[in-house]
Amino acid sequence: MTKQVITACKVSELERHCSEIIRNGFTVVKKINSEEIDDIYRYLGKKEEIADKRAFEDTLASGNINFVGWREVKTKYFSTADQRNPDIIIPPHCESNPRGGSFQVAFFYCQKSAETGGESILIPSENIDEKVSFKRSIFIPVPGRLKEWPSFVEIIHHTFPFLKKMPQLFKPLLLILFLLLFANNIIPSILRLLGIPFVIGSLTENGIPIIRFSKFAKQLDLEKALNGQNYRTLGFSEGFYDFSIREKFSEFILKNNLYFKKVKDANLFITKSEEFRYKPLYHSQNDFCKLFNNSVIVKLDTDELLIIDNRRFMHSSTQYQGERHMYASFL
Ligand SMILES: [Fe+2]
Repeated sequence: MTKQVITACKVSELERHCSEIIRNGFTVVKKINSEEIDDIYRYLGKKEEIADKRAFEDTLASGNINFVGWREVKTKYFSTADQRNPDIIIPPHCESNPRGGSFQVAFFYCQKSAETGGESILIPSENIDEKVSFKRSIFIPVPGRLKEWPSFVEIIHHTFPFLKKMPQLFKPLLLILFLLLFANNIIPSILRLLGIPFVIGSLTENGIPIIRFSKFAKQLDLEKALNGQNYRTLGFSEGFYDFSIREKFSEFILKNNLYFKKVKDANLFITKSEEFRYKPLYHSQNDFCKLFNNSVIVKLDTDELLIIDNRRFMHSSTQYQGERHMYASFL
């Protein structure tokens, strides 16, 4: 039987947090423990004004997925957020949904706060608008591998939970279809012949290719945030891998006297897995001068849960010292 941890008085507190997310774009729930976060996640997921009902049901059905060396499952719905060397910064980005578009809400639970640094910087998506001139960029592949990528079938089941019910017989067919489309390079070769860049990035331990980049960097499409307004955001491709955004982020960190440690790239990515996930790849030379305007610096204490309207604010993280454990989940 599931332990009931949301009491009547917690419900009224959560209602206050819900209105705060809609009004301000984020909220911090204080003094909670890791047993309560799944219940809060479910509570918010059931609220029509917070989450799309169908998307929430899909998320509940698919549960959580373990990526060794990257995201380790901690509760039913939360995994560790980006396991990384503390010297690595996480540049601004909006959390994209593998099923398409971006998630509506992002949850970050601080199980242990860092001694120094580890702030989350929330960047208003309204700073991304037509006035910012985005140059389209071609990605460069980084050969690398995650320690252990879930099997192809696990990824497919996680992304399309309804396929779990598929008869066993069809699974090899699905794998063949996947190999035909991606692994044998046919589609990428055709696209390259047509002058469209398409890159297969990496091989996993068991040899299954993972497509790392397949698109141009660009602003994402307009999406409706919880306050009813439409915003453009930066995805992983536009935020994580662009030197230009990292330079501006470093300037912001220094200007605000946040923890900053200069480390050469060669010493930064200790594991292949880190290199695969975080290595910057190109200089977009986009104008990010106004990107950090009205940004909010949040330093979470142990046992605090930050809930963000993922479309209204992008998130990022500074470097840190000491142990730091963050769990993340999305709706
Ligand atoms: Fe993120």
